[in-house]
Amino acid sequence: MSIRPQPDRVIIFDTTLRDGEQSPGATLNVEEKLAIAHQLAVLGVDVIEAGFAVASPGDFEAVRTIAQQVGVAGGPIICSLARAVRQDIQAAAEALQPAAHPRIHTMISTSDIHLNYQLKKSRSEVLAIVEEMVAYAKSFVDDVEFSPMDASRTDPEFLYQVLERAIASGATTINIPDTVGYCTPKEMGVLIQSIQENVPNLDRVILSVHTQNDLGLATANALAAIENGVRQVECTINGIGERAGNAALEEIVMALQVRKPYYNPYFGRPVDSDAPLTNIKTQEIYKTSCLVSQFTGMLIQPNKAIVGANAFAHESGIHQDGILKHRQTYEIMEAASIGLPENRIVLGKHSGRNAFRTRLQELGFHLSEADLNKAFNRFKEIADKKKEMSDWDLEAIVRDETQIQVDAGFRLEHVQVICGDCTCPTATITLVTPDGKILTNATVGTGPVDAVYQAMNRLVQIPNQLVEFSVQSVTAGIDALGTVTVRLQHQEQIFSGQASDTDIVVAAAYAYLNALNRLYRYLQRQPKSSQAHIVESVPFL
Ligand code: KIV
Repeated sequence: MSIRPQPDRVIIFDTTLRDGEQSPGATLNVEEKLAIAHQLAVLGVDVIEAGFAVASPGDFEAVRTIAQQVGVAGGPIICSLARAVRQDIQAAAEALQPAAHPRIHTMISTSDIHLNYQLKKSRSEVLAIVEEMVAYAKSFVDDVEFSPMDASRTDPEFLYQVLERAIASGATTINIPDTVGYCTPKEMGVLIQSIQENVPNLDRVILSVHTQNDLGLATANALAAIENGVRQVECTINGIGERAGNAALEEIVMALQVRKPYYNPYFGRPVDSDAPLTNIKTQEIYKTSCLVSQFTGMLIQPNKAIVGANAFAHESGIHQDGILKHRQTYEIMEAASIGLPENRIVLGKHSGRNAFRTRLQELGFHLSEADLNKAFNRFKEIADKKKEMSDWDLEAIVRDETQIQVDAGFRLEHVQVICGDCTCPTATITLVTPDGKILTNATVGTGPVDAVYQAMNRLVQIPNQLVEFSVQSVTAGIDALGTVTVRLQHQEQIFSGQASDTDIVVAAAYAYLNALNRLYRYLQRQPKSSQAHIVESVPFL
């Protein structure tokens, strides 16, 4: 086996589409996964973990489609997770087949607590499985990653044996997961060092780390691992993922970028070397973050590092004074470095199509003619009500108008509400059904949004439960656009929708309809027998 040169930068392994999608309620359909994968490629990630091919037909299709369309020669490595089980590895290999650079990521638990209570296997059985399954994965692809699950709680002596066996069987990347987010940064550093000292032939593989955020230490642990020689980190956009999530890609990348002089020596570079420590195009971070938030329906907390709405906002008088005198008094990085649009007022109702297109291009949106037309019409509608349109408003419009509408769904023709302190909130809704029928319903509710949602449910007739509703103002000011995000539950599945308007009841109606359409399309794809819950009457109201 040849010795792999250790890269003198960090390989970014993005698992938004696999571990990120394991966030409760963050289910993505194939089209959404593909759109995110395209953007991850533009962002410059080295590896896209596109899913867990054996988990469901949808996951298989997503991995295969991404392998075909994003995994082109010279593009990112496309990876599928697989348990150390033949059937999983076969499914991963088959789904990855169209990729120019495929990787199988196979894993098995190694801690005693997992062995005794979950796997019910002895250590020697696990060693034999590692040997057999890594070699089996290797029979399909050259690039095999191996993860000993719950590595940070595994007896170190056993962990060294497992890793040695995986390397001998052909693994090319060894990933150390802190599966339950238990490690502290210092412990992570010691663990990585001890692996380097005790595992033979480690120089033949890339050493990687996967950190979970249960104690809020995922990014700190990933950075500690890097300081101790790890050259691949597994992370997700906005830090989404199982339970409290994963290390956030944007935090790791910006820490390495902003503190380059601190990290350079760990890579054997002079302190003042200017060469980037990752391949990420940081100006694409903000756009990618918005896309993932929109498709998963997982809002970003305002104080989230790097991409939160407040990350570059200065409220206190002392800070504002300092910023006005010299930005670096209170800012360690520029908003523009993550592609965050400045809140410049650029367009109004007299602006033409060309100015609109040009500004969108400056913001990094290159729309097809059809999407541009839709977005421009909507821009004109809103500009009639809102005098000044900021970059944030333009972005909200583009988000709404380019939402993925793969098949026909219901269309909102008309929404009207009557509400106030002395009246019963009443909504009248007119929808066009997928087969072109025009339906109208008027319903009273506890408030205008409740009335709208009840009227829509009566027309659409698909049982569901609203599990989350939130409104965020896109900009400040009385005429600001409001973005509404909703999440619906149908059986075990969650469907999200988002829309923006100057009228938040209208935004609420569109957001709900977007979520209902995703549910509708999901049901259309199910076998007919499982659609018995699409009913003639509406028992759930
Ligand atoms: O948390 C974990 O252990 C994982 C592995 C599959 C890397 O997600």
